Amino acid sequence: MNKSIFRNTGLVTLVSLLMACGGDNKDTPVPEPIPEVVAPDTPAPEAPIAAEIANGGFEEDTTGQTTPVGNWVFRPDQESSATSTIEIIESQEGVNTYKGTKAAEVIVNTLGDNPWGIEIAYEDIPITGGKNYEFSVWAKGEEGTSADFWIQTPAPDYGQLSLVKETLTGEWQKITLTAATAEADSLVRLAIHFSKEENINKSIYLDEFSGFILDDVPAEEIPDVQYSEVTAQSLKALAPNFNIGVAVPAGGFGNSIIDRPEIKTIIEQHFNQLSAENIMKPTYLQPTQGEFFYDDSDELVNYAKDNSLTIHGHVFVWHSQIAPWMQSFQGDKAAWITMMENHITQVATHFEEEGDNDTVVSWDVVNEAFMENGKYRGEKTTNDSADESVWFENIGAEFLPLSYKAARAADPDADLYYNDYNLIWNADKLDAVINMVNDFQTNGVPIDGIGFQSHISLNSPDISTIQAHLQKVVDIRPKIKVKITELDVRMNNEGGIPLTYLTSERADEQKQYYYDIVKTYLETVPEDQRGGITIWGVIDEDSWLQNWPEPTTEWPLLFFNDFTAKPALQGFANALKELIEVAEPAPSSELLINGDFEAGLDSWQARGSASITLDTTQAHSGNNSVLVQGRTETWNGIQKDVKGLFTADKTYNVSAWVKLSDDSTTVSPGIKLTLQIEHTSTEYLELTPITTINAGDWVQLSGTYTHSITTQESAALLYVESNELTADFYVDDVSVTLVE
Ligand code: XIL
Repeated sequence: MNKSIFRNTGLVTLVSLLMACGGDNKDTPVPEPIPEVVAPDTPAPEAPIAAEIANGGFEEDTTGQTTPVGNWVFRPDQESSATSTIEIIESQEGVNTYKGTKAAEVIVNTLGDNPWGIEIAYEDIPITGGKNYEFSVWAKGEEGTSADFWIQTPAPDYGQLSLVKETLTGEWQKITLTAATAEADSLVRLAIHFSKEENINKSIYLDEFSGFILDDVPAEEIPDVQYSEVTAQSLKALAPNFNIGVAVPAGGFGNSIIDRPEIKTIIEQHFNQLSAENIMKPTYLQPTQGEFFYDDSDELVNYAKDNSLTIHGHVFVWHSQIAPWMQSFQGDKAAWITMMENHITQVATHFEEEGDNDTVVSWDVVNEAFMENGKYRGEKTTNDSADESVWFENIGAEFLPLSYKAARAADPDADLYYNDYNLIWNADKLDAVINMVNDFQTNGVPIDGIGFQSHISLNSPDISTIQAHLQKVVDIRPKIKVKITELDVRMNNEGGIPLTYLTSERADEQKQYYYDIVKTYLETVPEDQRGGITIWGVIDEDSWLQNWPEPTTEWPLLFFNDFTAKPALQGFANALKELIEVAEPAPSSELLINGDFEAGLDSWQARGSASITLDTTQAHSGNNSVLVQGRTETWNGIQKDVKGLFTADKTYNVSAWVKLSDDSTTVSPGIKLTLQIEHTSTEYLELTPITTINAGDWVQLSGTYTHSITTQESAALLYVESNELTADFYVDDVSVTLVE
């Protein structure tokens, strides 16, 4: 065979996306109800063929298999002299499989005479000629190993449609190939070649192959959309005593927030609680029996502590995302109970902390124990393949109260939740959960709240359904808490007109829906029963819905991929603004003299080339503010000598109000309060996160600062600066108070 004939298709787009592992899971939850679709009058044109790859995740195969189900061909030793092992392996999700428990492993021994000596191929994928297709696969290989990923026409031509040569990094990475097919094409093959020096005696893992037709609208034609304005500066500032959470990947998990400053800025500006999207799940915390892995989750806890965030723990007991050893654990009922309780006890104890230091303040103890018909998952009352749970199957319904008792014993202070999907609209399921809670309460089993996951679609369920379902839980006596734990709002409803980009109209519909949900929650759930609202991810691109239940483009969250806030965030903020009464701050001892400029400029000074003038036309409070102008460097601004103000090991609330001088400007600078300290060295400490200011409004810079410098200071300057070199702004009400 001659593999060197390449066909020049004119346009071959190669896209190689380097993404780390996000994990995904196909068996939860059941999709939300879908709005009815009215059949079109004229028959739709014949749909192009989808480019399906069967068994793309190798989950249908058994370990050691070399002839996987589907059109797969493993060729470990073509061209006589090549030798290698290519077979299906089993591993824990996220380790040597990207998703599920199976993947293909390639171990290269000797290279053949040709680069295609060692090959994995999926043959004869049906496609519609003349259309653009995208294929993707997740790969992991030791750093420096590599592979060539091809889309070709079938034998004997092997025409080149797309080639990506990828060097692997040691992490799971997604390889994406885009292929423009010719009118005459009806089949393509996807092939990967491994005969390379750097691969000798190394393992490469491959998982989750998929292919689909790209929409006819090329990316360049997406118009530059003007979305409605977002002026909200901080969700959490609008609701100081209300949990506003977000789920994040962290630690060694792909896309970890720890390495993403833009994501951290968003979190610190808007949220006061975090959920671990994956790294506190059983498979992650106890990958091997008796061996607990806390490195990643501890990193998350420390980050939360440093930024005054709490954590909602997710999750002790779930049928999904449990390690293979747990899934196939052998033992009688008593042994299963011991194993389950041990996991809960160990994990809860690890994260338990006392008093103010307590960061993990609540837990999903059990997740998704019920089916849609209100029966236990694993009771097999349905034909649903998801009707399986090792917990119910090995322990019976008793696993539920036992879990909550173990959790309470290990962490007496944490709020214990039962968490599930579709509770927000499925009455059978919600009633079953409420019955369980009533039962617990009658029998003295601890439970503090119900978590509504709320993976929902735009306008489905409707608001009255949401209200009624929240109300049912509010009405439980004794009272328990109500928490929305995993909110995301899918925009590409199946059956609706698929979006190729988020239009301004749809974005506003999403804004309205978020507004309605938050408003309904706040109107329905009394303050003492509010567990809070958590969004399942920060930027749209990171949402699990991009891959679940199949690859798609989605816009479910509050932030665009460029880290700017979506109209949906404004919807959330508007509801908070309307419904949460922010109590007047308790009287506190102000440490800064004349921070409100009512006594004139006093000891305030210009910093750098800026000039400062007292202004009596603008004030956040009182009559005066200061106008800062003429800045030429980011660090220029207004400053005050604060030598001796801060005491070691004490914590302070620091705040200032700022407003842009030009109400018509389109510049949105980031502004912050900084402390310059001279002691053994010069340090510049950020006292408030950089806060973006839009024209028109007074905006608060606010932060908590713990003074950890113990050496004698020779100078200390508190100042307001901006990352925008020349921004002019007013400053008012600069304040520093001691946190008692
Ligand atoms: C999802 C995560 O978002 C994905 O990254 C992971 O691959 C699968 O799990 N219900 C839950 C969450 O309780 O834990 C799930 O999170 C989404 C459904």
